[in-house]
Amino acid sequence: MKSWIKLGLVLSVALALPLVAMGGGDVEKGKALYTSKCATCHAPGGEGKPAMAKAMKVEFRHLGSKEVQAKKDAELKKDFTEGNGKMKPVKLTDEEAANVIAFLRTLKK
Ligand code: HEC
Repeated sequence: MKSWIKLGLVLSVALALPLVAMGGGDVEKGKALYTSKCATCHAPGGEGKPAMAKAMKVEFRHLGSKEVQAKKDAELKKDFTEGNGKMKPVKLTDEEAANVIAFLRTLKK
């Protein structure tokens, strides 16, 4: 085997490992899901839509805020798959949930 092929293999394993360690969530797929299933209420950047907040009589916390980001992945998953206060549960597969969480982590301020 040519040494640059070996190098390529080593590099791709090294790059893939952190992704697996983080739960393997795919940010791009998560973003697409978030845009179609969550952004109507939480707004594209996670800040929450004022009109929705008014209609639902809630105050949205920014999904990138310290308080929300302090939650563990499992807690975030529970928030949206089982519902949270006035938010109804959103049906997602485990894989979709992991992708959405990966995207939520990119909103961190
Ligand atoms: C119909 C509007 C609506 C949709 C759609 C929605 N949410 Fe929510 N979400 C809410 C409301 C309202 C709250 C706050 C509940 C409260 O404070 O009582 C909330 C709370 C949350 C929280 C907890 C935030 C905190 O302050 O701790 C998370 C996390 C969350 N939503 C994520 C999501 C994700 C991810 C999706 C898409 C899969 C989603 N939501 C879809 C309305 C919505």
